[in-house]
Amino acid sequence: MPDRFKWTIFMTLLLSFSLYSAHLYITPPPNEQELDGVALQGKNIWQKKNCQSCHQFYGLGGYLGPDLTNTVRRRTPEQTRAFLKHGTDIMPDFRLTEDEIQAVQAFLQAMDASGTADPNRFNPTWYGNIKTD
Ligand code: HEC
Repeated sequence: MPDRFKWTIFMTLLLSFSLYSAHLYITPPPNEQELDGVALQGKNIWQKKNCQSCHQFYGLGGYLGPDLTNTVRRRTPEQTRAFLKHGTDIMPDFRLTEDEIQAVQAFLQAMDASGTADPNRFNPTWYGNIKTD
């Protein structure tokens, strides 16, 4: 293959990657919302404890645990609290304080309010995004 041809392919791929990345960063996510004080605290705990390594929001994250985007719809606050308080055989007990548990629950409420995600029913488009109806 001539070098010029390889160079053209490389530049085309690089340009496509750059344009697509720019598009993703510029397009605001749907239902974007600011988190209030307690939910923001919960988000910080989420990040500090690296919950995302096992859980997903909108299908993105680790896959050892379930997607938590709408977990508060499926569980009572007491059930969610029990998971956060004690962990399970697989999920570690993070020894969260009562305030931390409430903050994480507020964060999960805010995530639920941001939209609906059921990764088992995701409908991918040909360009790699998920169709949202
Ligand atoms: C090592 C992996 C792992 C980490 C880290 C982890 N979890 Fe989990 N989590 C799980 C698994 C797996 C389950 C499902 C229950 C089970 O099978 O043990 C679960 C279940 C849950 C549930 C209940 C979900 C439902 O509706 O059934 C919540 C809420 C939850 N985790 C929140 C968190 C939060 C908040 C953090 C961070 C502080 C966290 N998890 C960190 C693995 C993890």
